[in-house]
Amino acid sequence: MSIIEKAAGKLNQQPPMRPAPPPDSIPEAPVQVQPETDAPRHELNLSRLKSQNFITPEAEHSNMAEEFRMIKRPLLDHAFGQNSARVRNGNLIMVTSSLPGEGKTFSTINLAMSIAMEMGRTVLLVDADAPNPNLLKKLGVSYDKGLLDLLEDGDLKLSDVIIRTNIENLSILPAGRHNRHATELLASDAMSALLDDMAQRYPDRIILFDSPPLLVTSEASVLASHMGQIVMVVEAEKTPQPAVKQALALIEDCELTWVLLNKTRNLAGVGYYGYGYYGHS
Ligand SMILES: Nc1ncnc2c1ncn2[C@@H]1O[C@H](COP(=O)(O)OP(=O)(O)OP(=O)(O)O)[C@@H](O)[C@H]1O
Ligand SMILES: [Mg+2]
Repeated sequence: MSIIEKAAGKLNQQPPMRPAPPPDSIPEAPVQVQPETDAPRHELNLSRLKSQNFITPEAEHSNMAEEFRMIKRPLLDHAFGQNSARVRNGNLIMVTSSLPGEGKTFSTINLAMSIAMEMGRTVLLVDADAPNPNLLKKLGVSYDKGLLDLLEDGDLKLSDVIIRTNIENLSILPAGRHNRHATELLASDAMSALLDDMAQRYPDRIILFDSPPLLVTSEASVLASHMGQIVMVVEAEKTPQPAVKQALALIEDCELTWVLLNKTRNLAGVGYYGYGYYGHS
C-alpha cells in the first residue's frame, strides 16, 4: 500500500456535496489578451506573509522554501525543460484536492512565490476558486474584477483585471465578481480560447491556478480539462482514501497529475507541518 493510501485510509467519510447551479445560457465573449504592463501594482506585505509561513524573498532559506524547491523542479521541467515536449500547455498548472481545507491555496501561493523568485521565470497566479475565492484575501490584496468578468464581458482586456505586485515576476488574476454562471463560464469556449492564448502567448510564464475541491463543486474538474499539469494535494492522516481515488478519477484525462502529501509531521512527530510524498499519480 502506498504512503498516500495509508494516509488516506485513516478515515472513510463521504464528501460534502453542494448542489450544482442551474444551467443557463452563457454569452460567448471573445476575450482580449494584451500585455499587462499598464496593470496597477499592489504592494504585498512581505513581513506579514513571512510570519504566516509563506515564502518571500527574505525567507528564501526557510524550510518551506526548501520544500518548494523540490516541489517546483519537476513541474518546471515538464513546462520548459527536457520533458516539456511531452505535455501540451505544460505551463498551465492547477493545484487542487478532493475536499476543503487540505492546503490548496497555501500550496498554490508558496509554489507561485517559489517560482517567481527564480531568475527568468514569471508567474501569473489565478484565483480560479470561483465558489470560495480567498486567495487574494490571504495575500492581503483587495480587488474587484477578475477572471469571471473577463469571460463574461468582451470589452474587458486581461490588462484591465490583472494585478502586478512588488515581487517583480508575480502577477495575480483575481476570481472576479460573484457570478451564478461561474461553472458555465469556466467551461465556455471563451475560457478555452483564453487559456490557449495565455499558454502560447507567454510560453516562458507559469500560469498557476488555485481551485475548489474536486468532490464539492464541478468547477475544478471543468478546469482540469484545460491544464497541462495538475498538483493534487492530499492531507496526511486526514483525507479519506475513497475521496482521493474518486478525485483522481475525475481528473484522469489530464496528461500529468502529481500527488502532493501535505501537513506531514517531522520524524519526531512534533510541530512541524511539511510536505511528504510527491510523485506521479
Ligand atoms: N503545509 C502547511 N503548513 C502550515 N499550514 C498549512 C499547510 N497547509 C495548509 N495549511 C493551513 O491549513 C489551512 C487550510 O489551508 P488552505 O486554505 O490552503 O486549504 P484549501 O484546500 O485551499 O481550502 P479550501 O478548500 O477551503 O479552499 C490554512 O490555515 C493554511 O494556512
Ligand atoms: Mg483554497
